[in-house]
Amino acid sequence: MGWSCVVARAVAIFLMLSRASALTSDIFAAGKSDKEILDNLLKNSRYDKRLLPPVDGVLTVNVSVLLLSLASPDESSLKYEVEFLLQQQWYDPRLRYSNQSHYDFLNAIHHHEDIWLPDTYFIMHGDFKDPIIPMHFALRIYRNGTINYLMRRHLILSCQGRLNIFPFDDPLCSFALESISYEQSAITYVWKNDEDTLRKSPSLTTLNAYLIQNQTIPCPIKASWRGNYSCLKVDLIFTRDRSFYFTTVFIPGIILVTSSFITFWLEWNAVPARVMIGVTTMLNFFTTSNGFRSTLPVVSNLTAMNVWDGVCMCFIYASLLEFVCVNYVGRKRPLHNVVYRPGENPVTQRLPAVLSRIGIILASPLPGDKKRESTGAAELVSCTACTGPGACTHTANNGGVAEVRKKEPPHPIRVAKTIDVIARITFPTAYAVFLIFFFIHYKAFS
Ligand SMILES: *[C@@H]1O[C@H](CO)[C@@H](O)[C@H](O)[C@H]1NC(C)=O
Ligand SMILES: *[C@@H]1O[C@H](CO)[C@@H](O)[C@H](O)[C@H]1NC(C)=O
Ligand SMILES: *[C@@H]1O[C@H](CO)[C@@H](O)[C@H](O)[C@H]1NC(C)=O
Ligand SMILES: *[C@@H]1O[C@H](CO)[C@@H](O)[C@H](O)[C@H]1NC(C)=O
Ligand SMILES: *[C@@H]1O[C@H](CO)[C@@H](O)[C@H](O)[C@H]1NC(C)=O
Repeated sequence: MGWSCVVARAVAIFLMLSRASALTSDIFAAGKSDKEILDNLLKNSRYDKRLLPPVDGVLTVNVSVLLLSLASPDESSLKYEVEFLLQQQWYDPRLRYSNQSHYDFLNAIHHHEDIWLPDTYFIMHGDFKDPIIPMHFALRIYRNGTINYLMRRHLILSCQGRLNIFPFDDPLCSFALESISYEQSAITYVWKNDEDTLRKSPSLTTLNAYLIQNQTIPCPIKASWRGNYSCLKVDLIFTRDRSFYFTTVFIPGIILVTSSFITFWLEWNAVPARVMIGVTTMLNFFTTSNGFRSTLPVVSNLTAMNVWDGVCMCFIYASLLEFVCVNYVGRKRPLHNVVYRPGENPVTQRLPAVLSRIGIILASPLPGDKKRESTGAAELVSCTACTGPGACTHTANNGGVAEVRKKEPPHPIRVAKTIDVIARITFPTAYAVFLIFFFIHYKAFS
């Protein structure tokens, strides 16, 4: 009895052992699904997902970013939505399965709760936009223990632009990744393949977002404020659509201001026409600039836009005031009963004549004037000397009149017309100078 009992026990133990050995070899048997293999690999007794993968030295997480879409709600926004695939790759020796299975990789998407994953988080200014479908990632375990973790993220970044040069600024958006709990000595993030640029998806879509430059760098010292944490940074530099601002702001503004200059070419006493031009251009300018302003971020330092609006309004207002001056001067009663001669209309004069008239108005005795007076006097003398009453008298009359008028104050209507003529040159010139200065100073064409 005693012997048989011992033999039975021994047989039972042998059977148990052989079954156990059969089980371990069966894990990778053909026909097993990758889920079953993972169930075995991730057994509590084998694998503790709370522990960092046991590698020599520091665990390296290789990171890469693939841009999927870039969008901005409108042209003048400083918020940019960035959608990308974040790929993280690291090595976990506990999950090696060598060549014992025919699988090239195990799809661990349903085991992601049981696997150690790096606790990567984003440092940025902005919001997260959660995907509608929560399972937006892929998780693969390769034979050699390499784990490839892919996830889709959607960030709404608050970017930094130089608002003082507003429509010509290039907003910079950046975000960084860092481990929440593991210091640099435990986990190091590196850009995969040491790439220093972002990859973009072949189907990259952009909306109101014009990416001009990108870089992927390790964080500068000041960004890793928490101290010894490994950190990677992505910088995206966008630009704004210059042609949009030219067609909606600058060209309409230039048209309105130059339209207000039309008034200088009208009669000095064309009150309805000139008032209408002045007032309509001014109101129109207010309306368009207010309409555009309502789409801008409400901040105080929009210097370039303020300069643009302010100077354009000044030009329009000044041309309206110029008309008021001209009209007021023209309606004054002439002194000494000077008679206005329409033939002396400065509109028909050329520039040199106009300039000499400016000289007359300013009553500054030019050295040339004396000479001309003396020649006039000589003419007068020569004419009085001639006896015939024909063409000679005409010259004499002209010379005499000119001399008399130089001593008298000019007729108010002539003054008014002269002011118009001066405005015709000075206003467009000053405005052109302003435009050149403005677009060069704010680097509109760089
Ligand atoms: C990470 O990248 C480095 C080269 O940059 C490479 O040597 C290493 O094998 C990569 N690690 C993984 C887990 O892919
Ligand atoms: C694959 O398995 C065979 C035994 O089945 C072994 O001899 C070989 O070294 C293994 N190769 C690798 C790369 O592990
Ligand atoms: C592990 O295998 C994957 C896929 O075969 C390969 O891309 C990766 O470089 C390998 N990693 C190492 C460290 O050999
Ligand atoms: C990032 O910039 C590099 C050149 O610096 C360029 O080759 C690459 O296509 C850019 N990436 C994206 C997503 O625009
Ligand atoms: C960072 O780590 C180094 C050694 O790895 C240590 O001397 C230093 O005090 C750490 N700094 C902080 C802020 O933890």
